[in-house]
Amino acid sequence: MKIPFTNLDGKKIYYQITKADNQKAIIFIHGSGENSNIWTNQLSLEINYNLISLDLPSHNKSDIFPDLSLQLYVDAVNNMIDSLNLKSVILAGHSLGGAVAQEYYFQHPQKIIGLIFVGTGARLRVSPMILNSLKNDFQSYLDSIPVGAFYRKTKEKIIELFIEEITKTPPGVTYSDFSICDNFDELERVKKGTIKVPSLILVGKADKLTPIKYSRFFKDYINDSEMLVIDKAGHMIMTEKPLEVNKAIEEFITKRFE
Ligand code: COA
Repeated sequence: MKIPFTNLDGKKIYYQITKADNQKAIIFIHGSGENSNIWTNQLSLEINYNLISLDLPSHNKSDIFPDLSLQLYVDAVNNMIDSLNLKSVILAGHSLGGAVAQEYYFQHPQKIIGLIFVGTGARLRVSPMILNSLKNDFQSYLDSIPVGAFYRKTKEKIIELFIEEITKTPPGVTYSDFSICDNFDELERVKKGTIKVPSLILVGKADKLTPIKYSRFFKDYINDSEMLVIDKAGHMIMTEKPLEVNKAIEEFITKRFE
């Protein structure tokens, strides 16, 4: 696996790729303060698709951008799809990444054949406690992660690796990400049945940050959708329960697109 980059307005956007012998792709979009490594387990999915995980602008190995916004993240994904000449693209988004995937789909519906929602929602209000700790006391934000983002019995090693990754992101960038989430509200648009592509909705039973209710909302208003609640997992299901997540994605792809 190599780590190349695309060029967005003269700046580098890094991505990891497991290549296929066609132009089909699943693009994995990480959540607030995370980076492409969060999807490491999903880059070994056994399907003949290019599996791509990007570092959003100002995250990990991507260049620093002065102003972060949902539109910039949508543009980074669009740039990747166009520069790699990808066709038949499925977007998979976690948390903030799910907001990017929805917004991308609303702007470029013709480029997307499917959506995978992983612990996310059509509205993502953020607790003022999280925003305050990010602004004033980053350590207290990090300290809240094991209880806030994970199932109580998730292995310490998995949590440690996650904290190691999010510590790479400057606190101001993570704060911007959560502010973008806090302002994201597409409940009404989703309610109108605007999402028409096959959609897979995955959520941890113990997810406190994007509770099951958010996923049920997608299930209720996306006609062609299926939902799986994953037991003994919190907000970080793709690292907490990679086997279950991968199986669900493989079955979804095989059943719906092969
Ligand atoms: N899908 C479906 N329903 C949703 C939703 C979604 N994505 N987002 C909010 N709602 C519903 C809520 O369940 C609530 O319904 P109710 O009035 O029947 O109880 C209503 O919309 C309003 O909720 P919300 O927008 O969240 O505002 P609030 O003032 O009630 O609560 C918070 C604000 C921040 C306390 C709350 O959103 C919260 O606890 N969030 C989870 C923690 C967090 O910070 N997550 C980070 C996400 S990135």
